[in-house]
Amino acid sequence: MADAAGAEKPQTIHPLFIRVTHWVNAFAIFVMVLSGWRIYNASPLFGFEFPPGFTLGGWLAGALAWHFAAMWLLALNGMAYLAYGIVSGHFRRDFFPISFKRALNDVVLAGRGRLDHAPGRYNAAQRLLYVGVILAVIVAIFSGLAIWKPVQLQGLTALMGGYDVARLVHFFAMAAIVAFLVVHIALAVGVKGVLAPMFTGRAEAPR
Ligand code: HEM
Repeated sequence: MADAAGAEKPQTIHPLFIRVTHWVNAFAIFVMVLSGWRIYNASPLFGFEFPPGFTLGGWLAGALAWHFAAMWLLALNGMAYLAYGIVSGHFRRDFFPISFKRALNDVVLAGRGRLDHAPGRYNAAQRLLYVGVILAVIVAIFSGLAIWKPVQLQGLTALMGGYDVARLVHFFAMAAIVAFLVVHIALAVGVKGVLAPMFTGRAEAPR
């Protein structure tokens, strides 16, 4: 909002709840991915292993301990984020409507360096990516549960197409999250004025 002198006053564009859950989530995802890579290396699905220097846990049992600890953090924090996003109207207001056509158009504009990326207002490509990564995390959690407890949760494991398919689903959900992160972190760091408000909540931007 502009004051009498016409200057924009800082406004809260990311509520405290979103900021806290976002950074807790980011920490949990990093722990899950890096410990997951170590677990993968113990029994690779494909013809490659992840560089040990980019993994967490030191050995299989250590990595499993990290993975299971961060799993509770991710699931509980994720549920709090989803509940807040739905009840407060944040998702409805800021993520929807989603248009594939406009998202594609935004990617073209970004390529020409003309994309609107104002802090506090998500463009169509961001909306699609945020909803996409939230779905990928949900798929990762359910496929993870299916391979963690294939006997107790056999209905879920069967729904995933069996243990082996659930493992593949889990791997590709991880790959989708990592692909999102490469783009997300590059934009967060590279686009001026976007990162600081995710810590402070405030920016001189119209909502
Ligand atoms: C590790 C997993 C991460 C996931 C799953 C994730 C996901 C998300 C999502 C869903 C949002 C939208 C939040 C909302 O308004 O409800 C968001 C926003 C944001 N994230 Fe992340 N994020 C992650 C990590 C990071 C990291 C490491 C950084 C910084 C280097 C970062 C920087 C930001 C920024 C700056 C915004 C606000 C963007 C804007 O206002 O245009 N995120 N993130």
